[in-house]
Amino acid sequence: MKKADIGLVGLAVMGENLVMNMESKGFTVAVYNRTTEKVKNFTEGRAAGKNIIGTYSLEELVASLEKPRKIMMMVKAGAAVDALIDQLLPLLEEGDILIDGGNSHFPDTIRRTAYVEEKGILYVGSGVSGGEEGALNGPSLMPGGSPAAWQHVKPIFQAICAKVEDGSPCCDWVGENGAGHFVKMVHNGIEYGDMQLICEAYQLMRDGLDMSAEEMHEVFAAWNETELESYLIEITRDILGYRDESGEITLDHILDTAGQKGTGKWTAVSSLDEGVPLTLISEAVFSRCLSAIKEERVKASAVFPRSIPALIGDKKEFIECIRKALYASKIISYAQGYALMRAAAKTYSWNLNYGGIALMWRGGCIIRSVFLGKIKEAYDKDAALENLLLDSYFAETIKALVPAWREVVAYAVKVGIPMPAFASALSYFDGYTSANLPANLLQAQRDYFGAHTYERTDAPRGKFFHTNWTGRGGNTTANTYDV
Ligand code: 2AM
Repeated sequence: MKKADIGLVGLAVMGENLVMNMESKGFTVAVYNRTTEKVKNFTEGRAAGKNIIGTYSLEELVASLEKPRKIMMMVKAGAAVDALIDQLLPLLEEGDILIDGGNSHFPDTIRRTAYVEEKGILYVGSGVSGGEEGALNGPSLMPGGSPAAWQHVKPIFQAICAKVEDGSPCCDWVGENGAGHFVKMVHNGIEYGDMQLICEAYQLMRDGLDMSAEEMHEVFAAWNETELESYLIEITRDILGYRDESGEITLDHILDTAGQKGTGKWTAVSSLDEGVPLTLISEAVFSRCLSAIKEERVKASAVFPRSIPALIGDKKEFIECIRKALYASKIISYAQGYALMRAAAKTYSWNLNYGGIALMWRGGCIIRSVFLGKIKEAYDKDAALENLLLDSYFAETIKALVPAWREVVAYAVKVGIPMPAFASALSYFDGYTSANLPANLLQAQRDYFGAHTYERTDAPRGKFFHTNWTGRGGNTTANTYDV
């Protein structure tokens, strides 16, 4: 019997769909699941008559694979992955490849890569995005891990992944050890940000402009024909137009409390660890937290009642300003996300392929958009780009958007509509583009109460000074310059 090209463990929906996808691209796949009944159900059901081999033990799975063996683990993130690795390692030979396609936290993948490589086995931790449908028809894949594994995994991954219009695969090698899962985490953070931006635009139109779902449906349909064209704008358009059996807009009956699974939080925490301002994504996470305390908000709204005045001015023009403000804020979100990746690449010694990452996100995943093509171009032009805002295309684009952006944020502040993502993006922009920030005062305060010293504008960088501000302190300094 022909040996399988790849094995897959974990026949939940994502696992099953990836198997079907691989098989449809001409690969023979061996499958295994802890609850072996699922293997039987799958091979006798959806997989019947296909080049899919059911196996009922890990030994049988390993024996059915072509060498070097490739085993993709699609099990619950966390302890299950470690347990499975320990069960598989004794069955594998040097050069075999273990792939984790689950939603693992990148520090776990860094640790597992080292552990597995120690035993002579190669490891891949891959982000898989696009949900169940993506897994079946073409996900965005973000693999990282042991570089030597890539040549073996590449033909399968690039065959099953999503493709953009010109046929380029939405999958490329991301970098060493945990880089793939890190980039997937940032993808999810950016997804939080994109969703929050759309929600703020929606609230401004709903509460500030008193617009109906029908009207907003038309606005989002029109926006999807502009630079904002993306999966998330498209589904928002459809949601706003969706009516239940009784003809009511379903959205109007959905409770305003958001859930989260934690990947946005991981991204925000990682930005704090790296010391990179990721303000928009962090605000998006906090906005979900604020939404979750519904009862408290209802109580507070009674203590601080307010009515929002009607817009004075041209509504159509203002809607165009909102579109521009959304676009500008979105550019900031990606600029921040990329800045985080750059910092992490330095910390973890990853050789990240920034243009390739934009291409991986260009199709297949939730944040897929036309806009990512522009980011790819920016990094293709200059792989060492410090910040997306310094790319000439984005610099010119943002400049043209700034007046509308300020107008929208100022209006929301004035009438009392929360727009944390729009507003924090604008503050970041104003801070990032300020040659002079008030941190001279901050350093003075630190030196005043803690003798933390400061650098001077009229002395070379790296030379530190201390002032005896009160005349009481000595000349001893704390001599630290850490944040
Ligand atoms: P199960 O069907 O036996 O529960 C998603 O939960 C997938 O991960 C399922 O295929 C599930 O197998 C598998 N899974 C969860 N925990 C596991 C573990 N500790 N070992 C192996 N597979 C596990």
